[in-house]
Amino acid sequence: MEGEFVLDTHVVRAFVSDVEQAIAGSSSPEAACDAIRPRFSELLADPDWLPAAFQADAPESGMGGGIGQWLLYRAGDGSLSLFSLVVPAGSQTPIHDHLAWGLVGLYRGTQDEEIYAYMDGELVPSERRALGPGDFYALIPPQDDIHRVRTTSATASVSIHLLTNDTGCIWRHAYDLATGDVTPFRSGYANVDCPDQS
Ligand SMILES: [Fe+2]
Repeated sequence: MEGEFVLDTHVVRAFVSDVEQAIAGSSSPEAACDAIRPRFSELLADPDWLPAAFQADAPESGMGGGIGQWLLYRAGDGSLSLFSLVVPAGSQTPIHDHLAWGLVGLYRGTQDEEIYAYMDGELVPSERRALGPGDFYALIPPQDDIHRVRTTSATASVSIHLLTNDTGCIWRHAYDLATGDVTPFRSGYANVDCPDQS
């Protein structure tokens, strides 16, 4: 199956090609993330590759709060996606998971990230970190997979996600701290349908 380049540019194609090679040549998610790190860092440092349309908020979004999740690329078999997540100033995501390993980094603005973990059956904050442009981390579930991000800059934050599933289209989970409820949720993308919607 063919991959889908929603943002079909040389930069994105070269990045995805390098990522796919790194994954194919790695024996574990950890090794693949390490191999991808230099290229991911380059992408975050490049001021020119991401058009304004992919850095815009999305009033009707599946995440709520005007949060825009814009697909840039996904593999035809759903094994990889690259997307931007735009969280407007003053907005935060629900507490959510991702269910796939990959890299997540900040491109514009600043964010506070709060990570949650289950302790004795109860979901509690386990770590908090502040992210600025160029900061990124490897996400390898189940470690640190449940989090919430809040924009702390006066303008929207834009983060770049490279994850080994079709994150916007899979069913994952939203968590309500007050009630303890875990709700199945599918964020969708602001710019494309999911395979079973088209
Ligand atoms: Fe997230």
